[in-house]
Amino acid sequence: MTASTEIRFPADVPHPFSPAGRLDPYPSYDWLRSRSPVHHDPMARLWLVTGHADCAAVLRDRAFSASAGQQGRARDEDLPPSMLTTDPPDHTRLRTPGLLLLGPAAIASVADGITADVDDLLDGLAAETVVDAIERIGSPLATSVFLRLFGLAESDRKAFSQLAQAASINLDPLAGPQVAALGRSAMKELTRFLQAHCATLPQNSHGAPAASSPLARLVADDRLTDAETLGVLGLAVVGGWQPLAEAIGNAMYWLLPRPEALTSLRLGGDELARTAVDELLRLEAPIPFTARVALTDVRLPGGEVPRGARVLAVVAAANRDPAVFERPNNLVLDRSPNPHLAFGGGPHFCLAAQLVRQTGAVLLARLAERFPAASLAGPPPGWASTLVPRRLRALPVALGGGDAR
Ligand code: HEM
Repeated sequence: MTASTEIRFPADVPHPFSPAGRLDPYPSYDWLRSRSPVHHDPMARLWLVTGHADCAAVLRDRAFSASAGQQGRARDEDLPPSMLTTDPPDHTRLRTPGLLLLGPAAIASVADGITADVDDLLDGLAAETVVDAIERIGSPLATSVFLRLFGLAESDRKAFSQLAQAASINLDPLAGPQVAALGRSAMKELTRFLQAHCATLPQNSHGAPAASSPLARLVADDRLTDAETLGVLGLAVVGGWQPLAEAIGNAMYWLLPRPEALTSLRLGGDELARTAVDELLRLEAPIPFTARVALTDVRLPGGEVPRGARVLAVVAAANRDPAVFERPNNLVLDRSPNPHLAFGGGPHFCLAAQLVRQTGAVLLARLAERFPAASLAGPPPGWASTLVPRRLRALPVALGGGDAR
């Protein structure tokens, strides 16, 4: 073990997993990054990696296994491992067909529908004064995105969003056994729902009619077994639904107290909306860290980890590394380049990054146009104590009248 193993948190810096650290982990991330960027934490029996160069290396280097790192994660054990819990070459075999669901052609096919969903959602808020942005904007928009991808009907909305919400407890790789048990049964229910939906679709490419949704195109492809396809879908829901819903709340938490930012977005056009999405994800990464296991002894720029080490790449800390980002704690809407790691990196880079960017940019642009005087309502919003995703307990927003469409 390296010298960094002996470094202890000072009394005035809360551990990032302590009750105080969960609410505001950034002081401890700053301390770790500057004092012990590759840090052995004997209490958590983990290595916390917080520097940008170190995190990027953990995510990219084949010496770190996602398969071993994600082993504790609850899932439907009747299904084979998903792409997130496999290493190449298995991972590549699962990810390539996954592009039918989340690749550029899939996204192009749902883009107009998602834009219409954003407009409908904001239309529905025009007569309101104060709304909870997560309950009324983030969650319903995340559900709309999945209804489009999966070709589900509007009448499936309630059942799908309840299942997605329940299955999302599987996001936290450090969840205890009780939560993991709940997570496993939620995953089984989600699988049953998705299986019933897939059974309504033409199964193979041979002679099947043109598929009408990205999911239908994945089901009509022969490269994955039915169980593997269900694994991809379950992973997309668990890995995507809540992070997307919460990312929208987290973004508004940063934007709304800054009227000048909302004005810039209103005037800045699509290009600014696009860079703003990345900047908001950089500042408040919904998935703050992800787990790997070192297959050999590895020397990282900030220190060494031994073979067998369970490593957390703390991307939320890397995203504020002053060695890479000027004014790391400030919102700079037009920051470019912006090499943040909120979507991960290397082989497991978020398969839906383009979808998230596109959906987020449409929402930000429309929100700034429709509700230019929107602001936070009530007392300062509080962060939930869950580690993954990083999320607010609620976000009451005063819509400020909106436009008169
Ligand atoms: C703001 C929202 C999102 C964020 C911040 C996010 C972030 C991430 C991150 C950090 C990873 C890498 C995990 C790792 O390396 O261990 C990842 C992987 C993944 N994400 Fe996302 N994600 C988001 C939304 C979505 C959505 C909406 C979907 C699906 C519709 C999705 C599907 C996936 C899949 C399938 C993977 C696994 C890729 C692989 O293992 O090759 N994500 N995401």
